[in-house]
Amino acid sequence: MQPIQLFDPDSSTYTYLLFDESSREALIIDPVDSQLERDLAVLRQYGLRLLWTIETHAHADHITSAGLLAEHAGARTAVPAACGISTAAVQLQDGDRLEFGRQSLQALATPGHTAGSMSYYWDCADKRHVFTGDTLLINGCGRTDFQSGSAEALWHSITGRLFALPADTTVWPGHDYHGHKHSSIGHEKAHNPRLAGKTQQEFIAIMDSLHLPKPRRIDEAVPANLSSGLRHDADGAWLLQPRPAAGYAGDVSPQLAWAWVQAGEAVLVDVRTDAERAWVGFVPEAVPIAWKQWPGMAMNPDFDSALLQAGAGRKVVLLCRSGVRSVAAAKRATELDIEAYNILEGFEGDPDDHGQRGHLGGWRFHALPWRQN
Ligand SMILES: [Fe+2]
Repeated sequence: MQPIQLFDPDSSTYTYLLFDESSREALIIDPVDSQLERDLAVLRQYGLRLLWTIETHAHADHITSAGLLAEHAGARTAVPAACGISTAAVQLQDGDRLEFGRQSLQALATPGHTAGSMSYYWDCADKRHVFTGDTLLINGCGRTDFQSGSAEALWHSITGRLFALPADTTVWPGHDYHGHKHSSIGHEKAHNPRLAGKTQQEFIAIMDSLHLPKPRRIDEAVPANLSSGLRHDADGAWLLQPRPAAGYAGDVSPQLAWAWVQAGEAVLVDVRTDAERAWVGFVPEAVPIAWKQWPGMAMNPDFDSALLQAGAGRKVVLLCRSGVRSVAAAKRATELDIEAYNILEGFEGDPDDHGQRGHLGGWRFHALPWRQN
C-alpha cells in the first residue's frame, strides 16, 4: 500500500493521501488551498472518506486547505501542538497516533525547520514510510533561518530520530524542486550532502551559510496557516454588491443579505447546527437547514431536499458561523441549480486575538436582527 503523492507545481509542495483499503478511511498530509478541487476529485475517484487533515508545520510558501477540507469533506484537522495553529481540532504531541481504518500514523516531533515541525511515520503491511515535511528533503533539508528554526535542533531531529528509523523506510518529503519523488532513510544517511559524513558543527556551518531569499508568500501564508488556511478579506465594495465567487453565485455582506431578505428577493438559510442556533443565537427570519450536525458534525442527509423546498425559485443567502461552511453549502446549492450566495463573516465573525468571536464583524456585530432562546 503506497501513499498517493500529489504535487502543487506553484509551490513545489507534495501532498499525501493515505487510506485504508477495506474501510476507505483516509487522511491527507499538507494539502494546498489552490488544489482543493483536485483533492476532492481524488477522494471521490477512490471512494474515500477523509477523516483527517494533517500539517507537518505552519508553512511559509503555500496556504493549507485544511479548514476548507474540514467543511467540504467533513475531515478533522490535526496539527503539531507547538505550531500555534489554534483553530485545529487536535493538537498533536510526540508519539500521538491518528487512526484511519486499521491503519495508524504516528507523530514524531522533529523540530528544527520550525520549532513545532513534526514528521509522520506509517508502518503499513511490513512497508515503512515517513513523511518528513521540510525536516528532511531528498539530498537536502528545510531551511532553519526563520520561523523559530534552529540548525542544531534540526541536526538532532534528523540524525537522532529520522536516521534511527529502519534504513528501508521510504522518505516522502514535503517539497522537491528537482523532480525527485521519494528516497529512503538509508539513502539519505549515506548520500545527503548536508548530513552524510558531517559533524554537527559542519552541518550548522552549512545551514548558516545558505543565505536564502525570503519565501515569496511568507507574509500572507504564515498568518493564514495559523488559522487552518481560512481567510476573510475586507474592502468597502462588497457591502453593497455581491462579489463573484468560484462555484456559486457570489459572496455578499451580512448587510446586503439582510436587504435582499427584507425586499423579498432572497431566502435566508442558516446552515449552522441546531446546537449553535440554540446556544449562540438565531435569526428569526432564517430557515434552519443544518449543513452538518452535532454530535460528530456528520453531514445532514436532508440538506438537499430541505434547501430545494426553501429556495423554490428564489435566490438563497446562506449563513453560518464565520462564512466557511456557507461556502460549502453554496457550492452544493449551485449543483442543485439554486442561485446561492455565501454571507461573508457569518453570524459571529472571525475570532479576535483572544479567541473571542463577535467583535470582528458578522451578523450580530452589524446589529442585524437576531434573538437568543
Ligand atoms: Fe516549510
